Amino acid sequence: PASQMRTLRLPADPDGIAEAARLLAAGATVAIPTETVYGLAADARNGAAVARIYAAKGRPSFNPLIVHVPDLASARTIAAFPPEAEALAKAFWPGALTLVLPLRPEAGIASLVTAGLATIALRVPAHPVAQAVLRAAGPLAAPSANASGRISPTSADHVLDPSGGLDGRIAAVLDAGPCAVGVESTILGWPGGIPTLLRPGGIPAEALEAALGRPLARHEGDPTAPSAPGQLTSHYAPTAPLRLNVTQPSPDETHLAFGAPGPFTLSATGDLAEAAARLFDLLRRADSAGRPISVAPIPDYGLGRAINDRLRRAAAPRP
Ligand code: TXA
Ligand code: MG
Repeated sequence: PASQMRTLRLPADPDGIAEAARLLAAGATVAIPTETVYGLAADARNGAAVARIYAAKGRPSFNPLIVHVPDLASARTIAAFPPEAEALAKAFWPGALTLVLPLRPEAGIASLVTAGLATIALRVPAHPVAQAVLRAAGPLAAPSANASGRISPTSADHVLDPSGGLDGRIAAVLDAGPCAVGVESTILGWPGGIPTLLRPGGIPAEALEAALGRPLARHEGDPTAPSAPGQLTSHYAPTAPLRLNVTQPSPDETHLAFGAPGPFTLSATGDLAEAAARLFDLLRRADSAGRPISVAPIPDYGLGRAINDRLRRAAAPRP
């Protein structure tokens, strides 16, 4: 049974990558590094392998998964690219952008990946290790490699965390150190033909709007239409209570600073990219300190929007 599996920690060298590709081809789940967060990967054309992702994460099976491919040419074999999608893919891939596009049924993607939808979420990651695995193992479905509802992993240690991680539930993790971006990809789709931000993430919405030459509609936080699990009430949740926009932390709190130094600062200089890269690791470390957590105000532009989105979910009422 999955609960008695030994999870291998593979080095991110040619042998480790070949072993990961062999396990994936055999239908196993392997956590792989990307520049955003670690993903829990499985062969997107193998329904039984994809089912193992949902089982390992304890994820509700109605949430569709992102499929990762090595380049735009492979992406075109899986989805149709209207002109705006083509332009964004050329401008931002490889990178922290996921596009929701019309699925090509002949591509043979397991229906569990798309939860039966006529669209598919596609991403070309920039991380060289992810690129190497994708070239060896083909299209891979991969949500973040954390238990459902928990903080996303930005290191192999997070993936294997003894409290709430996936150790013993997955075949292997490819260890390439910490992720450079630190928050998940930005998700963009065209519901009703209108370019719409479905999840803020590692590519700022402003950069996408500049490339498109028109504003994006917003779909975030609409509780009546939870088409992305980030829109469920509580997500990215630490165990400790969390207060946001705190300028006067109380002495019993672990305080995540921004624009000021400190043992738990997101960025002493107020750099949003640094804050995004450190966010999930600091939330985990603050959580292990066992005291309530407070977080300084974070500017709500650029990467700050993705950071504030994740913080609001982390602070939301728990089920
Ligand atoms: O950075 C990332 O995006 C990471 C790395 C591993 O690539 N992956 C990630 O995957 O965050 P996940 O499964 O945690 O988030 C997938 C998101 C969900 O919000 C899901 O609802 C949305 O993509 N999604 C997938 N297919 C969709 C579709 N056809 N229509 C709308 N949303 C979709
Ligand atoms: Mg996730």
